[in-house]
Amino acid sequence: MSTRKPTIRDIRSMKQKHEKIAMVTAYDYPSAMACARANADMLLVGDSLGMVVLGYDSTLPVTMADMIHHTSAVRRGAPGSFVVTDMPFMSYQASVSDALHNAGRLMKEAACDAVKLEGGQAIVAQVAAMIAAGIPVMGHIGLQPQSVHQLGGYRLQGKTAGQAHSLYDDARRLEDAGCFAIVLECVAENVAQLIAESLSIPVIGIGSGPYVDGQVLVFHDLLGINGAYVPSFAKSYKHLLDEMANGVTAYRDEVRTGSFPPAGQVASVDPAVMAALRKEYNLGGHH
Ligand code: KIV
Repeated sequence: MSTRKPTIRDIRSMKQKHEKIAMVTAYDYPSAMACARANADMLLVGDSLGMVVLGYDSTLPVTMADMIHHTSAVRRGAPGSFVVTDMPFMSYQASVSDALHNAGRLMKEAACDAVKLEGGQAIVAQVAAMIAAGIPVMGHIGLQPQSVHQLGGYRLQGKTAGQAHSLYDDARRLEDAGCFAIVLECVAENVAQLIAESLSIPVIGIGSGPYVDGQVLVFHDLLGINGAYVPSFAKSYKHLLDEMANGVTAYRDEVRTGSFPPAGQVASVDPAVMAALRKEYNLGGHH
C-alpha cells in the first residue's frame, strides 16, 4: 500500500489483488504510533478498550464519550492511517436516527475514517442510512461481544447449518447495504471461508481461521499487555506486560537505593548563593 492515507477503495482493492489485510486495534497516542510505524493496513479503535484499557468485564459500559476521547488520541498518533471506530453499545441499536447522530459525531468530533457496528439483518436500516449520509461502514457479525448476555457467553459461532445460513444471510445483507468490509468474529473456519469466497468486499477475521481476506487482533493480546484473559485464538508476539513490570521494578529499586536520579544531572545554583540561603534558614553545611 502507498504512503498516502488509504481509502475504502484501497481496502476493497486489496481483496481483488489477493493481498491479505492486517488490521489491529489501537486505543491511544502511543499504540497508534506503534501501529502506524508498523504500517498496519487499518487501525480499529475497538470498544474492546472497555476491557483491555479501562478494566471493565465486558464492552457494555463503554460510552460515546469514551470512543470520541480514545479515537481523537489515535488520530493524533496516526494521522496518516485509516482509522475505524466502534460504535458503542446502545449508540445505534434503538433507531436509525440514533445511529446517524452518533456515527456523525464520531466522524466529526474524532475524525475517524469509518465506523463499525455489530449486527446483521437487525441493523441493516442503520447501515444503509449511514452510507447514504456518506459515512463508510464496516459490519461485524459472528460473535458480537455487545450481545454477550443474549449469546450466553463468548463462544464459536456458525457451528450448525442453521447458524451458518443466518451468518451467510447477514453477511450478504451487509454487503448489499453498502458495507465496505465486515469483521467475522469466532466463526467456524470453513463457514468463514464460504462467506469470504461469496462476498466481493473484504472479510476480516478474528478467531475465524486463515481462509478470509485479512485478520484483526487486539493490540494488548498481540503484545502481551493483557494481564487477564487472552483468547486461545490470539497470538502474543511479545510479552510487554512483563517487560513493563521489570522496568518499573528496576526504577523502584534505584529510587530505594538512591542511585536514581544521579547527583549532577540537574543544574545547581551558585554555591555562594546557597551558602547565604543555608545561613538564612539556619541549615548546616552541604549534604
Ligand atoms: O472491539 C474490538 O476490538 C473488536 C475486534 C475484536 C474486532 O471489535
